Amino acid sequence: MFVSDALNVNQLGHLTIGGRDTVELARTFGTPLYVMDEQEIRRSCRSYRKSMEEFYHGHGLVAYASKAMCCKAICQIVKEEGLGLDVVSGGELYTARQVDFPMEKIFFHGNNKTPEELMMALEYEVGHIVVDNLPELELLSQLAASQKKTAHILFRIKPGIDAHTHNFVRTGQIDSKFGFALETGEAMAAVKAAIAAENIQLDGLHCHIGSQIFGKEPFELAAKVMVNFIGDIKDATGYEIKMLNLGGGYGIKYLPEHDPIEYDQYMLSVSEVVKSECQARGVQLPFIVMEPGRSIVGPAGITLYTVGAVKEIPGIRTYISIDGGMGDNPRYALYQSEYEAIVANKAGEPKSMRVTVAGKCCESGDLIGEGMMIQQVQAGDILAVLATGAYNYSMSSNYNRIPKPAVVLVNGEDARVIVKRETMEDIVRNDL
Ligand code: LLP
Repeated sequence: MFVSDALNVNQLGHLTIGGRDTVELARTFGTPLYVMDEQEIRRSCRSYRKSMEEFYHGHGLVAYASKAMCCKAICQIVKEEGLGLDVVSGGELYTARQVDFPMEKIFFHGNNKTPEELMMALEYEVGHIVVDNLPELELLSQLAASQKKTAHILFRIKPGIDAHTHNFVRTGQIDSKFGFALETGEAMAAVKAAIAAENIQLDGLHCHIGSQIFGKEPFELAAKVMVNFIGDIKDATGYEIKMLNLGGGYGIKYLPEHDPIEYDQYMLSVSEVVKSECQARGVQLPFIVMEPGRSIVGPAGITLYTVGAVKEIPGIRTYISIDGGMGDNPRYALYQSEYEAIVANKAGEPKSMRVTVAGKCCESGDLIGEGMMIQQVQAGDILAVLATGAYNYSMSSNYNRIPKPAVVLVNGEDARVIVKRETMEDIVRNDL
């Protein structure tokens, strides 16, 4: 019925998440409010892990891409579920450290890690650093030598997947700020440099082709290209690559008409490609890493707002203003990303009103969506925007000095704050 299994409607006609009445949550914790369902997050983690066991004999690791939503409680859940972690900054790494996340299961990404961040990774003994470029390789080699350590690395590769056949936000093509290109010979040269480098152990390769991708084909294609590159490396140097990290990017349902495939289908099809290509090229089956972010936390989250002014511009459109906006969800402003919204206290009623949902920032582009169908709405109603668990809290800002909302985690009867609401004091905390 809804875009996420975590959502339902109770006898009062109120929207529920994880069985909890969202109107009551809004009353208890205030709005705007991010709410996440712990069971839904755990279900996704388990589904990915199970598919790795089932289709690839467990010879791999599912690492949660923490950029989708990073805080201590989420890192803790992911740790308990036995997943690894993708971090992309010292801040995400530091957060993981706070919950004693097993460092050997961490992949440290980024196209411009600072020397301080690389030192931090060496000091924490992060499992793998995903090296993006040659200057980084040199820097890491020097830093590792200074610490008398060996850095275990993966190379970020642009597999050059043709975007014209697949309409998604791409990062795998040659014109991307991330990684080494295959076509130019740059990637092979980097592999040779790494094999020769001091204090560096090249364990594997990584690629990430984009985000919110529907369909298996782009992933199958990427896996094929990457295994063939592993074969090329073996042919050219005799060196066996042991690990293949295929990134994340699996699409989720934001709108009722979206129809993503079951998450385990990705692993099924990718593992078949990997197995057959490895056989064809005569290389060992690599340890596979998957890095889902959005699909672990996205469907598990909603945002609750209180509706303020309803402004009808006759013959044009009706704006409804909410007490949040681009500060807590910049995705419409940035990417015109569409969401489903529901008047939480009227969730049982039909959607009969077309509105543009406007945030409270001093900016015309501060919208959550245009032409959205919702229930008849008035000031004081609670508006729920669905599937906001990924890339909302993590991309939030204090634009217009608006404090960030709290994050509440529901788990059956339990509802607890996992990130406190910012106060006005927080807003001036670092001002001198
Ligand atoms: N691994 C790497 C190396 C990545 O760069 C990303 C996402 C992921 C894994 C996880 O991808 P996911 O499964 O979440 O699609 N802010 C954008 C999304 C940017 C994704 C960046 N990288 C948005 O709000 O749609």
